[in-house]
Parts: sequence; C-alpha cells; structure tokens
Amino acid sequence: MLHDAYQSDIESGAVRKPRKPKTFCPKMFKSLETRFHHLFRLHPILVFIVCISFGITVLILLSSVYENNFRSAVTYKKNDFDNDVYPFANLKNLVMVAGHSVYTSSNCGKIDKEESWFLESYQKHPGQAATFLSPIEKGVEAAEKDDESLLLFSGGETRKEAGPRSEAQSYWAVAESKRWFGKDDVRSRALTEEHARDSFENLLFSVCKFRELTGSYPHNITAVSYDFKEERFAHLHCSAMRFPESRFFYLGTPASLTSKEGALKGEAMVRTQFQEDPYGCVGSLWRKKLKRDPFHRTIPYPDGCSEIRGLFRYCGSAPFPGSLPWS
Ligand SMILES: *[C@@H]1O[C@H](CO)[C@@H](O)[C@H](O)[C@H]1NC(C)=O
Repeated sequence: MLHDAYQSDIESGAVRKPRKPKTFCPKMFKSLETRFHHLFRLHPILVFIVCISFGITVLILLSSVYENNFRSAVTYKKNDFDNDVYPFANLKNLVMVAGHSVYTSSNCGKIDKEESWFLESYQKHPGQAATFLSPIEKGVEAAEKDDESLLLFSGGETRKEAGPRSEAQSYWAVAESKRWFGKDDVRSRALTEEHARDSFENLLFSVCKFRELTGSYPHNITAVSYDFKEERFAHLHCSAMRFPESRFFYLGTPASLTSKEGALKGEAMVRTQFQEDPYGCVGSLWRKKLKRDPFHRTIPYPDGCSEIRGLFRYCGSAPFPGSLPWS
C-alpha cells in the first residue's frame, strides 16, 4: 500500500509541475530526494535518528577542528608572551638586601643623618643612619660581582608615621642618590620587593618576586643584613624554606657600636621566637607582622610563584613537608 502511494505521488507530481530544463544534476538530486522521502515514510524514527546522529557527528568534528586551531593559536601566543613576561629571564641568582627602616627625608643629600630616616626608639643611636647604608652598598657590590644576579631591596610600608613609603623604595632611592656606589650597571638589575614585614618574609617574598621576574627560582641566594642576624637568616629562615645551605650565602654588616648590646639581646629573643614559630604565623611574631602593616596592603604573593603556594599557606613548628622546586 505504502509503495503504491509513493508511486502515485511521483506520477501526479510529475504531471502537475511545469517542466524545467533537464540537466543531470537536478535529476540525481530529485531521485535522491524521492528515495529519502520514501525511506522516511517507511522508517520515520530510524531516519530521524540517523539524521540526528549525523548532525551530532558533524558538530563534534567541527568543534574538535576549531578547538585544535584555537588551542594552537593560544599556545603560540603564550610562548610568544613568555619571552616578554619574564623581563629578567637571563638572571640566575638572587641578592636580597633586607630593609630596616624607611628613609623619610625629601632632601637626598642627608642620607647619613639620623633625621632623614624613620627610626623606632630602639633604633635611635648616633651612627645608626650610617649603618643603614652599608647593607645597601654591600648588596650593590655583591650584585656587581655576579652579572647573573638580580638585586632585590626588600621591605614593606612598615611605619605608619613614615607614610606610605616602603623600606624597599627607600633603599632603592638611597642607592640611586649614591649613584650606585660607582657600580652603575647594577641599577638595571636592581628592583624592589615591597611587602615583607619581617626577615622571613624578606627571604620568602624575594624568592617569589625572583620567580615572577625571571621565570625560575634562584640558584644561589645571598642575603645581606646585619652581622648579628646571620644565624637567623642562614639557619632558621633557610631551613624553614628548606633551601640548600650550600647555595645560601650571607653578607653581614656591622651594627653601630652604641646599639650593639641592645640589638644582640633583642636578636636572641627574636631567634627564640622563630625557633618555635619558624613561619612567623602565630603568637608574637604574627602580631608584630600585623603591626608592621599599618596601611593594610594586600600581599600579592604567591601570585607569581604558584609552585610554592603551599609554603605560603603552611603554618607549623616542623619544616614544611611538601615538595619545593629547589629540594
Ligand atoms: C653559586 O655559587 C657557587 C659558589 O660561589 C658558585 O660556584 C656557582 O657557580 C654559583 N652558581 C651560579 C649559577 O652562579
């Protein structure tokens, strides 16, 4: 019956429709169309399913082609971008100068004078300002000797009364005003880490900054600060970071003689605190950090160094147990 209906359909159609000039192609299409029509009448569900599957297959093919093209375009762009994104990709080693104070004078000629620096009461000793200079000079010297080194002055906006100027910016400005102690070529490799609130953060944040600027982690690290802080940096902070001691170097500069005794006492106390709380994340070390952030600056890290994200989050008295890029 169905077959008959189909037959009469084409016959009646052929009769009714005005004749078009006949070519091979329309004829072929016509016969395909009629066959399809016939098939559709016989198995409407089957044809429907076949059509849908065909449609889906085409869509999948198209989307995979598109995705491949799109992805390779993105990879290409990213590779292109990587070269620009790490402005110091050629540097291997970090020289970090830890900040101790903020330089507040608008007159750059008086760097050696106490009144040019924002001093805490415990820092007010004759000759103190001069001791701020020597780590800066020592850091510049160390960076000059190693032309694969990045020099970072590290220290945040730690003093409310000094206003929103960071220790790091102060130190950079001092080096600039001293014309880089005659070592001009260091200037282009000298930058700032402007968030650290204590000595552990000086180290941790500078390593993150190094990764952000070079695309890798430092091979050698040289920390520059006062003599009496060597134990703290070279042992406590270095082992909290689990950075190989053989690749860690310390350059100490003398504190002023008048302040030495008090400084040593204070240092012994801070060392004990870091022994109990190596990551400075609880108790008095933590409270001290909060006080040293009077302007509530948002710390950008570990953005820029995602490989050590865990180290930033970690808080404990035992060394960080996760894996690290240098261990
Ligand atoms: C790291 O320091 C050591 C000892 O000074 C030196 O031999 C080595 O070449 C340094 N590595 C790099 C990458 O500069």
